[in-house]
Amino acid sequence: MKQEFELGNKAIEEAIAGFRATKDKDRLLMLMVMLQRRMEEGGQFLVAVEVPQAAIDMIDPETVKAGDVLQAKEDIRFVPRTLQLNAAKETFAAFTSREEAMKGEPSSVISVSIRQFFESVLAEEKVAGGTLNPWGELFFVPKDMMQAILNASTATPRSRIFIEQGDITKLDVDCIVNAANRSLLGGGGVDGAIHRAAGPELLAECRTLGGCETGQAKLTKGYRLKAKYVIHTVGPIYSGKPRDAELLAECYRNSLTLAREHEIHSIAFPAISTGVYGYPLEEAIPVALKAVMDWFRENQDYMIAVLLSCFDERTYTLYQNFLEDTRRG
Ligand code: APR
Repeated sequence: MKQEFELGNKAIEEAIAGFRATKDKDRLLMLMVMLQRRMEEGGQFLVAVEVPQAAIDMIDPETVKAGDVLQAKEDIRFVPRTLQLNAAKETFAAFTSREEAMKGEPSSVISVSIRQFFESVLAEEKVAGGTLNPWGELFFVPKDMMQAILNASTATPRSRIFIEQGDITKLDVDCIVNAANRSLLGGGGVDGAIHRAAGPELLAECRTLGGCETGQAKLTKGYRLKAKYVIHTVGPIYSGKPRDAELLAECYRNSLTLAREHEIHSIAFPAISTGVYGYPLEEAIPVALKAVMDWFRENQDYMIAVLLSCFDERTYTLYQNFLEDTRRG
């Protein structure tokens, strides 16, 4: 059964096969784009490593008895294994799947993010680059290609998530999102704050919208707000059922899609449903982050800055922690 990262690497294997079959420049470019995309998606390779003696000692059946607490005598550093590609070129080897790793001489492998693999190659003087799938349809990735992919990844203006504590009505962004109710006729919480700050014209426009279903999103002007637009979305009232997460995710996705339709490139969200609607922050935040990141992946051609506006310290801290975890992958 292939693991998710191996399925994701299929596109790289196909791009390598395509380049090897034609050796044409466009295919090479396609392969570089594939490598960059997989890297940005958090893709991984299996990297062949030298297993340090300390690790072998630690798991030596002669010395280890059941129940022992294994304590390495020194820190265990897995060093990538060098592979002699030809007389002149030493490289680090990496595999797109276990199947590729098992096509040749057995070696210990650990899964490493593509970004880390590239960085480990660039940091090692003695190697000329990395060899992908050395026992099969191999492809040699020279250092300058790795550097170009890493540079391209930071150069393209990519959508980003920012977290800030404060009052969403004060933000100078293209659009702020309102955690409204289905009537769209105002309420308490952030809904009340936004209507107070935007002024009565906001309510007048909302009256023309005919309400809004849970999970849906509707756009109005921002009136006296710094933000040009307000997107009103209606979060689920927490019930503890799986449908809650689906509806909450739809609020973020539908708001972002509506923002894109209006060429909005900076948007602030409150922590939807986590107030009056009772959605526990620890459950709502990962749903919100995943929904935004999934939308980014499906809209890589559109750059938008997403600001998660936290009204209190606890929301802010939890967002930071969850975002750190997501980035660590
Ligand atoms: N700026 C940023 N965030 C805010 C602000 C503000 N000025 N005011 C409140 N919040 C935060 C809350 O602390 C909470 O984290 O917005 C989040 C959402 O809370 P609510 O506003 O209560 O919204 P929600 O839980 O989605 O409930 C929606 O409440 O206000 C009514 O009319 C609204 O019926 C609807 C329901």
